[in-house]
Amino acid sequence: MKALILCGGKGTRLQPLTDRIAKTLISIANKPVLFYILDQISQANIRDIGIVISPETGESIREVVADGAKWGVNISYILQHEARGLAQAVQTARDFLVDSPFLLFLGDNLVTDNINALIHAFSKLSPAALLMLGEVADPRHFGIAEVDGSGRVICLVEKPDKPNNNLAIIGVYLFTNKIHQAISNIKPSQRGELEITDALQYMIDSGETVRYHSIDGWWFDIGEFENILKANRAVCKEFITRNIGGNVDSRSNVSGRVNIGRRTNIINSIVQGPSTIGENCHIKDSLIGPFTSIGDRTVIDNSVVWDSVVLEYCHIQDVERLVNSIVDSNTDLARHQSNFEGTSLFFGNDIKIEF
Ligand code: G1P
Repeated sequence: MKALILCGGKGTRLQPLTDRIAKTLISIANKPVLFYILDQISQANIRDIGIVISPETGESIREVVADGAKWGVNISYILQHEARGLAQAVQTARDFLVDSPFLLFLGDNLVTDNINALIHAFSKLSPAALLMLGEVADPRHFGIAEVDGSGRVICLVEKPDKPNNNLAIIGVYLFTNKIHQAISNIKPSQRGELEITDALQYMIDSGETVRYHSIDGWWFDIGEFENILKANRAVCKEFITRNIGGNVDSRSNVSGRVNIGRRTNIINSIVQGPSTIGENCHIKDSLIGPFTSIGDRTVIDNSVVWDSVVLEYCHIQDVERLVNSIVDSNTDLARHQSNFEGTSLFFGNDIKIEF
């Protein structure tokens, strides 16, 4: 079996975060989403992995993943010149996939379930395709499935205006080579994309068996701002362990499950878990956490930061209370005492600021 990870999307809903790097490289608890995916796939003993990349952000992925040796896997990069749908990405990867069965993983999906159970069900029941489904609060944003009582999918609709239920397609699928013929028979959707959901519906209409597996744990599509914070909370809560790699001075208090990277200094500060602070950071006279991730080489001085994701190379100075925030890398955030009656901002394109 092979695996295909789709990382060719533009990530328009997350600009400007995604101007610089691919959406899949956004860090959740100081680890890129793509790394969680690669961990899961290599743990499932799949060694041949294709990553579909875009011309804009593909290089950023090649730089950090390289040949996949870090995960003990072989990576092939497949360039998708234009993002025209998930099914079109699969079509682009045809030379890599040949006729092998494959696991399709959307690069913006963070899933806690062990995918071994899914693969086991696929080889035992031999359907033409197997989907992972989970209940969602707002089904209008997802592909939605109707199922029967015997584990089969009977109908699929992509982002319905009036959904019949809340059973959403999660971005982890298993396919036999029958998917290729289905893709060659579908037309672009209203949003101009070749939808994998339509290809699956084509398979069902052609009499093929499409089965499903219900997710046990949680999952997030990190394609939206709020979901990055939710995913950060969930990962902090579930996976952070206490590991103090840096220096904590005697006036500081680090409580609970806190991960502090090497060469990071915590000076006269309180850090509350679950939280993670990267390497080479400098935290002084501040309160950090809970549910906070701070990227490498960030400096935080005389500030309070909780329930937030701060990426690398940031400088936060004299900020009284930063909550529910995402701070992109290389950001300077400072409050000037002499200027407290007004707010002075220097901000860029597509930035979201809430007071
Ligand atoms: C895609 C799929 C959709 C699925 C979702 C999961 O949507 O088309 O069926 O429910 O991923 O994240 P997109 O994120 O491309 O809008």
